[in-house]
Amino acid sequence: MPQKIIIDTDPGVDDTMAIFFALESPELDLIGLTTIFGNVDTELATTNALRLLEIAGRTDIPVAKGADHPLVRPFGGGVAFVHGDDGQGNVHLPPPQTKAIAQSAAEFIIEQVMRAPGEITLVPVGPLTNIALALRLEPRIAQNVKEVVLMGGNALCPGNATPAAEANIHNDPEAADVVFGGTWPVTMVGLDVTHQVNMTRAHLAQYGAADNPIAQHIAQIVPHYQHYFESAYGADGIYVHDSSAVAYVIDPSLFTVERWPVRVETQGFSRGKTWPNMLSFELPPWENRPLVTCCVGVDGAGVVELELSRLT
Ligand code: RIB
Ligand code: CA
Repeated sequence: MPQKIIIDTDPGVDDTMAIFFALESPELDLIGLTTIFGNVDTELATTNALRLLEIAGRTDIPVAKGADHPLVRPFGGGVAFVHGDDGQGNVHLPPPQTKAIAQSAAEFIIEQVMRAPGEITLVPVGPLTNIALALRLEPRIAQNVKEVVLMGGNALCPGNATPAAEANIHNDPEAADVVFGGTWPVTMVGLDVTHQVNMTRAHLAQYGAADNPIAQHIAQIVPHYQHYFESAYGADGIYVHDSSAVAYVIDPSLFTVERWPVRVETQGFSRGKTWPNMLSFELPPWENRPLVTCCVGVDGAGVVELELSRLT
C-alpha cells in the first residue's frame, strides 16, 4: 500500500520539485498540501500549490492554507533572489482555476491524522508553524501520526539563511522547538545531507529533454534557482533540499542517521540554529527531550537518480 503523506510547503522551486516527485512516486499517496510562508508569503504559497496541482492534473488533491506569520515574531519576507518574486523562478504563471479548502492547514492535518491513526506521514518542507499549531490544537496527533519527516535544520554544519541557521528553522525557531520537543517520531533531513545531494547542470538538462508537463515546468522554473546556487556556492547545478525529505520517505536506506535530542536556539545572533545533544549524558536544556532521527549522511547520487527516474 502506498504511504499516505501530507506535504506542508512554501512553494518555492525546490518545493515544486518535491511535490512533483511525490506525485510521480507509486510508493506515496499525496493526500493533501498545506501551505506556509517562507520562500513567499502564505497567500502566494497557496496560489502556487493550486497551480502546481493543476499542472500535474491532480486537482483532486486538496490545498489547505496555513498561518500567515510565525508563532512569535513577524514574517521577515520571501526570498525572491532564490525562488523568484512569484516563487516559481519568475515565470509568472496564470492564476489557478481552483481554490483552497475552507479548513486551515492545522485543522486539515488534525482531521486527516486522527481519521487514519498511524497511517499518515507529515512532510514539512517549509517553516514549522502549521505543524506546531496542529500539535498545540490537538496534542493527540503526536500518538496518531506515522512520522514527521521534515526538511530543515543543520546539526553539524553552517546555516544557509544565516551563518548559524537553516532557512526553514530560521523562519520560525519557536515552532521548530515545539516540533522537535513533541512525543512523536521526527526525522530531520537537514543541510548536513541536502548539501551533499547535488543535481548538476547535466542532471537538470534532463528535465528540458523530457516530454511531460511536470518536467517542462521544472525546466522553466529552475534556471533562476540554479543561478542562486552557482553564484552563492560556485555549485554545478543545485543542492536538493525538499526532494531529499521525499526521498527519505520513499527509501530511508539512502541515508545514515544518528538519534539525538534537539533544541532550537531562539535568542541572539544564532537564532534558528538546531543544536543536537551528542554527549552521552543528559543536561539542560536537552534533558527529558525525545530523540530526533538526524540525517548525517546520504547517498547523494542515489537521491538524484531516484528523483530523475520519477520525473524525466
Ligand atoms: O533551507 C532550504 C529550505 O528553505 C527549503 O525548504 C527551501 O524551499 C526553503 O524553504
Ligand atoms: Ca521549502
